[in-house]
Amino acid sequence: LTVVEFTPGLENIVAAKTSICHLDLESHRILIRGYDLIELAQKASFEEAAYLLLHGELPTHGELEDFSSRLRRERTIPNDVYEALRRLPKNTHPMDVLKLGIAALAPWDPDLDDNSHQANLRKAERLVAKLAILVANGWRITREKPVLQPAADLSFASNLLYMITGAVPSPREARIFEQTLILYIEHELAASTFAARVVGSTLSDIYGSVEAAIAALKGPLHGGANEKSMEMLLEIGSMENVQAYIEGLLERKQKIMGFGHRVYKRGIDPRAEMTKDLLKHLSQDRGQTLYYNMADQIQMIMASKKQLYPNLDFFIGPLYYLLGIPIELFTPVFAASRVTGWTAHFIEQQDENRIFRPRALYTGHRYRPYLPVEQRG
Ligand SMILES: CC(C)(COP(=O)(O)OP(=O)(O)OC[C@H]1O[C@@H](n2cnc3c(N)ncnc32)[C@H](O)[C@@H]1OP(=O)(O)O)[C@@H](O)C(=O)NCCC(=O)NCCS
Repeated sequence: LTVVEFTPGLENIVAAKTSICHLDLESHRILIRGYDLIELAQKASFEEAAYLLLHGELPTHGELEDFSSRLRRERTIPNDVYEALRRLPKNTHPMDVLKLGIAALAPWDPDLDDNSHQANLRKAERLVAKLAILVANGWRITREKPVLQPAADLSFASNLLYMITGAVPSPREARIFEQTLILYIEHELAASTFAARVVGSTLSDIYGSVEAAIAALKGPLHGGANEKSMEMLLEIGSMENVQAYIEGLLERKQKIMGFGHRVYKRGIDPRAEMTKDLLKHLSQDRGQTLYYNMADQIQMIMASKKQLYPNLDFFIGPLYYLLGIPIELFTPVFAASRVTGWTAHFIEQQDENRIFRPRALYTGHRYRPYLPVEQRG
C-alpha cells in the first residue's frame, strides 16, 4: 500500500477527471465546456447553458427549440408526490421538502434503473425541469399556499420566479434572475457535486445522486451561505452598525457567511463580481440601495482586515431578497440551477466509472482484547 499524505477536506487533491468545468485561476475564468461562465451569463439563456452542460455543445436554433419544449413538457409532478409532501410538518425546511420530493419522484421515472448514457440524459433533463417545480410548489404546499401550474409561455427562469412569487416578473427582473441561475449552474467539484459523483460511482441511480447533492448543498458552509448573508444584513439593519457588527464577529472568531472560498483564496470569485453589479443595478431600479451599500462596506472591511473576498452567495442573498424571493428559498433556487451540473457530472462519472473508495488515516485505539461485560470497570 502506498501511503499518500493526508489532506483535510481533500484540499488540492484531484479526485476526478472532467471535461465539464475548469476553474482557470491564471486567467481568472470559469470555463464551462470551454466557454467562459461570465460570458454565458451575459449572453446566453439558462436553457442554452443547461443544454451546453448536458450535451457538451451549444445548441443550434433547432436543438434549442426542441430542448426547451422537452423541458416545458416535463414541468409536471405526479399528484401522489404532492400528496407525500402534504404530510410533512408545516415548518419543514424547503431543502428537506426538496429531498423528499426528489425521492418520491424517482419511482415514477420509467428509466430509473437504466444507467445507459441516453437514459441518464433523459432523466437529467426531467430532473432539471421538475426540480424547479418542486422548489416552488413543495414550498407552497408546506406553507399552505395554493399550488401553481407552470406557465407554458414562460422561460425556465421566468417561470420559476413566477411560481415562487405568484406574479409574472418584468423582463428585466426575469433576466437578472436568469443570469444568477446561469452563474449557479456548475462549479467543478463543489461538495454537493462530489457527493453526486460518489453516489454515481456505485452505479446507483441519478435520483439518489441528486438527493445526496441536495443534502450537501443544504449546509451553511456550501449553499446555505446565501440565506445566512441576507439574514446578517437584516440583523445589521443600518449603515451605522456595519463596522461594529463585523468587527465584533471577527473578534469572536465567527465566520462571515458569503466570504472565503476553498479555491479562490487570493482574489474575488469571478461570479461575485458579476452578482455585485447585478445587485447594484437592481437596487438602483428599486431605489433601495441600503443592502448594496452595506454589502459593499462589508466587502471593504473584510478585504482590509482579513484579506478575505466575497463568494457568489454574498451578493445573491440581497439580490434575491429584492426580487421578492423568501429567504428560505434561496438555497433551493441554487439547487434548481445546480441540478444541471450535478446530473452532467453523474453522467460523466458513469460513462467512465471507477468506484470512489479512498482510505482513512486511523487515529483510534490499536487492538484491544474484548472483555465480557461483568469484567468491565
Ligand atoms: C468557504 C469555506 C467553507 C472555505 O473553507 P476552507 O477552505 O476550509 O477555509 P478555512 O475555513 O480553512 O479558512 C482559512 C482561514 O480564513 C478564515 N475564514 C475563512 N472564511 C471565513 C469567513 N467567511 N469569515 C471569517 N473568517 C473566515 C478561517 O477562520 C481561517 O482562519 P485561520 O487560519 O485564522 O483559522 C469558508 O471560507 C467558509 O466557511 N466561508 C463561509 C461560508 C460560505 O460563504 N460558504 C459558501 C462557499 S461558496
